[in-house]
Amino acid sequence: MPPRFPPGFRFGTSTASYQIEGAVSSDGKGPSIWDTFTAKPGAVVDGSSGAQACDHYHRYAEDVRLMGELGTNGYRFSISWPRIQPSGKGRPSPKGLAFYDRLIDECLEHGVQPMATLYHWDLPQALEDDGGWLNRATIEHFAEYAAIVGDRFGDRVEHWVPINEPNVITIMGYAIGMHAPGRALMFEAMPVAHHLLLAHGRAAIALRESVRGRIPSIGCANNHAPMWPASDDPADVGATKLFDGLWNGLFMEPLLLGRYPEDTLPLVEDAIQDGDMTTIRQPLDFYGVNYYNPMRIGATEDDSELPFEFRPIVGYPMTDFGWPVVPEALREWLVMTRARFRAALPPLMVTESGCAYDIEPDEHGVVDDQARIDYLEGHLEAVAKAIQRGVDVRGYYCWSLMDNFEWAEGYTQRFGLVHVDFETQQRTPKRSFDWYRQFIAAQKQYA
Ligand code: NOJ
Repeated sequence: MPPRFPPGFRFGTSTASYQIEGAVSSDGKGPSIWDTFTAKPGAVVDGSSGAQACDHYHRYAEDVRLMGELGTNGYRFSISWPRIQPSGKGRPSPKGLAFYDRLIDECLEHGVQPMATLYHWDLPQALEDDGGWLNRATIEHFAEYAAIVGDRFGDRVEHWVPINEPNVITIMGYAIGMHAPGRALMFEAMPVAHHLLLAHGRAAIALRESVRGRIPSIGCANNHAPMWPASDDPADVGATKLFDGLWNGLFMEPLLLGRYPEDTLPLVEDAIQDGDMTTIRQPLDFYGVNYYNPMRIGATEDDSELPFEFRPIVGYPMTDFGWPVVPEALREWLVMTRARFRAALPPLMVTESGCAYDIEPDEHGVVDDQARIDYLEGHLEAVAKAIQRGVDVRGYYCWSLMDNFEWAEGYTQRFGLVHVDFETQQRTPKRSFDWYRQFIAAQKQYA
């Protein structure tokens, strides 16, 4: 028998606008930094873009029907800011708003509660032209946008996430430039981190003011990775502590405690103004973690610009992305986070968890992704064990409902429970889809 989850637990799937919608210039949508970035030769491994992606903009009804078949009661998606405000400011686009009305209503008709992310990386290009997240003015525009969507969709959206993975945006987008907007500013990128955290706070305030008809549940979706030192050599341990602060602590402690970890404060200090930390530390209704894998960190030799480096994790199964599969590290993260923050920690949600395997349909049309089944089983079990140990976890959203555009990896990494043929747009539920469906159905027997 599968482990038993508490009543009301959300079993969901997760996606993001640029990764699935396509229709990047339909109905007045403005260009985003990902439209610009993917046009640069070499930016994406297979030279692709999200121009078509899963064509979800037109096929959303079919996709929501699949969620209904799966039996999920939650769906985390993101709203494309440049669909709502093509240049990131000013009057909202009626057609952009209407699309998310249709999507949300369709979800509710299928018994699926929406969790809306406001920013999953598709910044309106016009705002990037003014400095993007390095510019504090972007925060004001974001708060305005949050008020628009809160007002329009707030009566029907169960959970809200202002910003997806501020650490990945800062590091991948602005420090090393592997993601849009492709800036490689190294440590000069750190004001972005502070501005994103502030944007989270301002959006939370705007949502609480604008949502009508219900009390909004507002959280976050932060990427966290347990950091393992390469050895017990003090140099490796020190490098691990530093990177842990940069990747995890710097994005978590401001939200929960209203302060930066001491050893990372110098990196953001210059960007902090009076009142900022209070704005950032808004009451959270849930703390969402996007969990994929632990990382192993070692110290670098003297001539390297960065004091830390990634080392391989061996002895675990690997996904096709080369990420180690370590479900027990998720359990540990949940247990340790509760132990560390106690009363400062709201209920937890796993807002993303998933794996990439490049498995195509066989001659019978079956996508036999046993490795994803093992992955899901292990990670759901890990969550169940954390709950048994007293951790309040309220949901698990599998990344992803369907294969999609995996950023700099283009279409080479397939994370879906549903296979997508990107030529024909045919959807084929994988064996893991069936497994998840049965797992969720089994929970109903406990009710
Ligand atoms: C986290 C990101 O939020 C999502 O967009 C991405 O596809 C997955 N990680 C997998 O890399």
